[in-house]
Amino acid sequence: MEARIQTIGQDLFSAVAAAAPTPLSRSWLHDRGMAWTMADPVLQRQLFLFIDALPGIRSDTAIVAQLHEYLAPVAGHLPWLARRLLASSRQAPPEIVATAVRLAAHELAGRFMLGSDPQLIAAHISRLHQRGRAFTVDWLGETVLTEVEADAYQQAYLRLIPVLATTVAAWPGSSAVPHQPAAPHLNVSIKLSALTSHFEPADVEGTSAAVCARLRPILRAVRAAGGVVNIDMEHHQFRDATLRIVSAVALEEEFRTWDGLGIAVQAYLHSCADDLAALLRVVRQRGAPLRVRLVKGAYWDHEQAIAAQRDWPLPVFRHKPATDANFEAQTRFLLHHHRELLPAIAGHNVRSLAHALALREELGIPAAAVEFQLLHGMADALQQALVDRGERVRVYCPVGELLPGIAYLVRRLLENTSNQGFVRAGFLEHRRPQELLMAPLVPPVAVAVRPPFSNHPPADFSREEHRQAMHEALAARDALGPAWCPLVIDGVEL
Ligand code: 2OP
Repeated sequence: MEARIQTIGQDLFSAVAAAAPTPLSRSWLHDRGMAWTMADPVLQRQLFLFIDALPGIRSDTAIVAQLHEYLAPVAGHLPWLARRLLASSRQAPPEIVATAVRLAAHELAGRFMLGSDPQLIAAHISRLHQRGRAFTVDWLGETVLTEVEADAYQQAYLRLIPVLATTVAAWPGSSAVPHQPAAPHLNVSIKLSALTSHFEPADVEGTSAAVCARLRPILRAVRAAGGVVNIDMEHHQFRDATLRIVSAVALEEEFRTWDGLGIAVQAYLHSCADDLAALLRVVRQRGAPLRVRLVKGAYWDHEQAIAAQRDWPLPVFRHKPATDANFEAQTRFLLHHHRELLPAIAGHNVRSLAHALALREELGIPAAAVEFQLLHGMADALQQALVDRGERVRVYCPVGELLPGIAYLVRRLLENTSNQGFVRAGFLEHRRPQELLMAPLVPPVAVAVRPPFSNHPPADFSREEHRQAMHEALAARDALGPAWCPLVIDGVEL
């Protein structure tokens, strides 16, 4: 098996190397820009913070002010020309500077995101189809703050689905994309936190009711068009609610036999194996398959920060090789159950993909039973290498506006430049394939030393056991009657 992984991996790398972007082409310039920012972490941080803030800034003068606020303190890190431009931008008319900044931001965003024009979206997915690639479309938006936004998000999907259906229907019968009836062309991805203004992990029932009310019409529209809906997995705080919502919907009478429902599962979570096992139980209960997109997970920095801030156990593997190893273990689980959990292996790590391909061979699973999913604007040569091998490659296409999509863009920027990640090592730094294809080596777990005193962490109500304990505590208190609860300090009732 290991020898086969190496052979397939080397083949993929050779194909990628042969398709390297032409110097001075757009993608070459993008890659150089990315490599430039990651060479200086201080500058990179300020740039990313500025990009994150940018779509929310309306006036030209505010854009110029923010540009200086973020970049002036690190001007010494800028190359000579950029430093001169920054200095002279103080004297230039703000509308010119702001326009230049907006253009640069749109150019950057354009690498990873498509706009919101339905005609352009239709043209893009048709082009993908001609190039032998399938698509999934994500309407950018997450963690919305108002019910108006949640409605708008639902409506955006309901308007988009007929456009996708009409586009797909116009494609010639014999498809360039290897597929089977169980893998329809039409595929949309959705983040549930965009379907309610209160995606509240502590209130799974309330959240579920609000989300499902907006989700069901989308599911019906996609099902009527013969497509697939894949529910994205977001922060760990949303994991339990997301799994419960998908499981509950999958068991509803209306959707029980539909095999077009899917969910993403994150291999960087300690709970990944449990999550897959739970989904398998749902499949067996409903008697129809679910789709599973196995991903590594894109919220690592966020999870790390939240766990440190609240003194909660880290839900993700601390070390990248542990995630990679888990990805391989969970790929094995999925392929073993490929009739029940229709697998999509997602990511840009050549080793992980080669492992899935080798394993599929070893288990004698039909090629069309597994698909590969990669993100728009990332590892294009790898997408092509998989297409050339006859694989079904589905490209995740985020569409919509920059403001609701900014969190997505920042995740892509972090992912492309992370010195832990494969994308940087493989496609920007071009490390040796032998090194990149090595089996992930999991380091021993270090024993954490706790300080002599630390505050008790707040309860994490995204966890079932904490919600349960709270209900029990409240019930116990109620059992005392309406009287009062004594204050007890150090065993003394006060
Ligand atoms: C994300 O939004 C691709 O769903 C993934 O980062």
